[in-house]
Amino acid sequence: MDVVIEMKDVNKIYKMGSSEYRALSDVNLNIKKGEFVSIVGPSGAGKSTLMNIIGCLDLATSGQYILDGENTDCSDDKLSEIRNRKIGFIFQNYNLLPKMNVIENVELPLIYQGLSNKEMKEKALKSLERVGLASHIKHKPAELSGGQKQRVAIARALATEPELLLADEPTGALDSKTGKEVIEMLKQLNKEGNTIVLITHDREIAQEAKRIITVKDGRIESDESNIEYSRVV
Ligand SMILES: Nc1ncnc2c1ncn2[C@@H]1O[C@H](COP(=O)(O)OP(=O)(O)O)[C@@H](O)[C@H]1O
Ligand SMILES: [Mg+2]
Repeated sequence: MDVVIEMKDVNKIYKMGSSEYRALSDVNLNIKKGEFVSIVGPSGAGKSTLMNIIGCLDLATSGQYILDGENTDCSDDKLSEIRNRKIGFIFQNYNLLPKMNVIENVELPLIYQGLSNKEMKEKALKSLERVGLASHIKHKPAELSGGQKQRVAIARALATEPELLLADEPTGALDSKTGKEVIEMLKQLNKEGNTIVLITHDREIAQEAKRIITVKDGRIESDESNIEYSRVV
């Protein structure tokens, strides 16, 4: 099995004036292709810090992070390029552009790929079909329910066929029934071969993944496979 995420002794220290805050301490983490992992921990544990490094949005202070065989210790331009090519993001607040319709939102990450307009439309439509929203391509985000908005965001994340789907509190803004539907969709996408990392403060949501990593005070406190998983899918 190929390794998608490989972190060795990753530390993150935030500097504020003359003081320092250690948000991550000696994090070692390996995630293989096809895994479905949740990263869970209380507020302030370091989840967002870890997610920013995994997502190539920020760099570690020390240690090594290799994403799908590429070292992320590189220039900002190269890092954005890796991020755009390898990662699909799903955020708590969807991050859809309100003035664009559904299909235009899904096309956004494809703009950098040098495709023709027709190819872009086709790819975006294929993504929207996978999340069951092909009939809503002309809707604006404001004309959709929360669950539909998150499905558009998932379609956008899938559009580039990334190595990794990185979801940060994807159910945080949804009622529990709709949240459950989003989780079911992530499970289905994992079944189809997508590697998924789900970040949450919610233990119950975390239990939906195949492997559960608990973070506390900037350290990995536990890392276990979920024996319940095959029963609940
Ligand atoms: N940019 C920053 N500058 C200084 N401290 C930060 C910064 N970002 C986060 N922290 C601190 O690092 C710790 C971990 O934060 P964070 O990764 O956001 O945790 P979580 O997402 O688990 O709530 C917290 O104590 C937070 O205050
Ligand atoms: Mg956070």
